[in-house]
Amino acid sequence: MDHPRGRQHPLLLDLLTPDFNAMDTIGTMGQDIKQIERLYDTVAREYAEAFSGEHEKKPQDQVILKRFARLIGDRRPVWDLGCGPGQTTRYLHDLGIDIFGLDLSTRLLEEARRLHPGIHFRKGDMLALDFKDHTIAGAVAFYAIVHFSEGQVRKAFREVFRVLQPGGLFLMTFHIGNETLRVEAFLGKPVQIDFMLFSPECIRNALEACGFAVNDVIEREPYPGVEYASRRGYVLAQKPHVSG
Ligand SMILES: C[S@@+](CC[C@H](N)C(=O)[O-])C[C@H]1O[C@@H](n2cnc3c(N)ncnc32)[C@H](O)[C@@H]1O
Repeated sequence: MDHPRGRQHPLLLDLLTPDFNAMDTIGTMGQDIKQIERLYDTVAREYAEAFSGEHEKKPQDQVILKRFARLIGDRRPVWDLGCGPGQTTRYLHDLGIDIFGLDLSTRLLEEARRLHPGIHFRKGDMLALDFKDHTIAGAVAFYAIVHFSEGQVRKAFREVFRVLQPGGLFLMTFHIGNETLRVEAFLGKPVQIDFMLFSPECIRNALEACGFAVNDVIEREPYPGVEYASRRGYVLAQKPHVSG
């Protein structure tokens, strides 16, 4: 669904024309987790308003999420990691998936609970998941790695691999590119944060290095007027079944 430029929601317009400065190279340092948490606490209400119904405007996301739901079937539980205001959690929940949401930001979790009162959301860190090994059937992570360095991405993937049951599925999305975008205003608030873009090869290599089998890599163009104008990547990976 396209919005004519002049009629965009002011928050969305702000999102689509952020104060981005592309840096030359991918940041390797990784950002302080506290800084990420503060960012999303600061913009929680605005983020929820801008993104809550986004899957309605993204037909390819709907196809990919429905396929994920079919593959998961009645296996449980599934966790939405870096769930934000819970729009993906809700979409899968409405497809019958037994899913919960986890995020770093207390304020975003409050938004998620307010918008989706029937779903359990809780605080947690994808870089140090407090789940036992081999206990969850599936995980999704929509744009949850956008502030991670490559090293943090690998750490998060190792954590997801550790907690998945054998045969467990992981669906993740990311912005495609090779640069880091330094943002000084986000959703109308002054902030200081980097958004990392990754190549599909980088994501595939990081998943395979953890032991995942990469089943699918899908790339698409951005939906004009609906989202920030970066190409999008979706990867479906599976933890192998134990052999023998
Ligand atoms: C770009 S938002 C994506 C939110 C939501 N999945 C969506 O698609 O709109 C990134 C989310 O990841 C969360 N996040 C970032 N680092 C995290 C971490 N280490 N553990 C858990 N959540 C994290 C942020 O709080 C934020 O909600």
